Amino acid sequence: MIRKVKGTRDILPPDSRLWVAVEAAAHRVFGGFGYEEIRLPLLEPTELFIRSVGEDTDIVSKEMYTFADRKGRSLTLRPEGTAGVARAYIENGLGQRPQPLRLSYMGPMFRYEKMQRGRYRQFAQIGIELFGSATPQADVEVLLVLHSFLTELGFNDLVIVLNNLGDPEDRPGFIDGFKAELDPHRDELCRDCQRRWDANPLRILDCKVERCQELVADTTPIAEVVNDAARDHVEAVESGLLSLDIPVRRAPRLVRGIDYYLRTVFEVVSPQLGEDTVICGGGRYDRLISDLGGAKVPATGFAIGEDRLIEVLPEAFSRSVLHQPVTAVLPIGDEATAAALAVARDLARSGLSAPTEVTGRSLKAGLKWAGKIEATVAVIIGESEIADGVAIVRNLAAGEQEKVALEKVPEFIAGLISRIRRT
Ligand code: HAM
Repeated sequence: MIRKVKGTRDILPPDSRLWVAVEAAAHRVFGGFGYEEIRLPLLEPTELFIRSVGEDTDIVSKEMYTFADRKGRSLTLRPEGTAGVARAYIENGLGQRPQPLRLSYMGPMFRYEKMQRGRYRQFAQIGIELFGSATPQADVEVLLVLHSFLTELGFNDLVIVLNNLGDPEDRPGFIDGFKAELDPHRDELCRDCQRRWDANPLRILDCKVERCQELVADTTPIAEVVNDAARDHVEAVESGLLSLDIPVRRAPRLVRGIDYYLRTVFEVVSPQLGEDTVICGGGRYDRLISDLGGAKVPATGFAIGEDRLIEVLPEAFSRSVLHQPVTAVLPIGDEATAAALAVARDLARSGLSAPTEVTGRSLKAGLKWAGKIEATVAVIIGESEIADGVAIVRNLAAGEQEKVALEKVPEFIAGLISRIRRT
């Protein structure tokens, strides 16, 4: 038997319904704010991620699926979406379109990570990016879209945490001070942080090792040493969110695991999964487009981890998606199957889910099958019904049935289902 690759998943029905429903909600909410979907390759030149995500990040240094194609070109399965969107923005001259340009995307990403709950090697992200606005209001909008989407799914316990990374020019000064404060305890840092000390000291702030966290807790937060414009920017983001009643909390050690961010960075955590399992990450990246060879185009955005989001979906949302009523369509005898399929077509057209029995089972076995697929209603149709232009509609829970004119069947069943739902 051939098994799936470690870290990948098969998403089976009925769980796949949750994915479809979450993605439909994303299209609806993002579309409402003017974001349109961009669909991009899963394969990109490796160079793209080295120059955007950053050479010394965990993602690039140890998590990418990188390989040489048959001509020896180095390709990488995308570990995140922003780099590809930025590449496409430059390559397709999207700067010529009216700005700000609002784009959304969803789909699989690949990172060779240690497997654990909520951490997969192929996972899906749902994200948006807003190009062409450097204002705090653009960050506020992006967070409002995020909040609206999560609210649409029924979340009310998620927490948005936010920090100010300042501008790249602030970084060397911050790092000097940070290292000076930490230096007396340098040898107490974990092995990874010893390496980060020279390669990417900012990431020490983000280390999950307890002793590293204790040491870092006593250092001066980065937001306290940023330039005035950066400070005003993130304060304006916070007050914008406050006036929209979107609660956010400052997280002074939040740095994110990707190099392109400046000023506003944020994450969403769930009390159910704990602070280590982040549902969404995002922030501002005003230098990325120009670093990749494009014009100076400020940008901001986020990406949600869809796998993790689905693991913590509010009960009411999951229930309403998973418990969609089903109508089993049961022909009596092979001759009635075409008529039964025609009924199924009418039901499907009116938005009902109506699978038909096509294996040639007896009516008794067909009703048993209807029970197994948890159908709410059965439509039974045999030769005498065809002759009379009717079908038998049976309420499977109540065991009651009646004859209904064929053209009235969809309307009748819709009414029946809504009556059953109310009781
Ligand atoms: P990120 O924080 O690396 O940011 O990833 C975003 C989200 O993807 C995470 O918060 C998490 O929910 C999910 N995720 C990441 N790795 C895994 C994994 N191995 N298994 C399951 N879920 C995972 C970015 O990717 C940025 N491009 C976000 C962004 C968009 N910033 C600006 N615009």
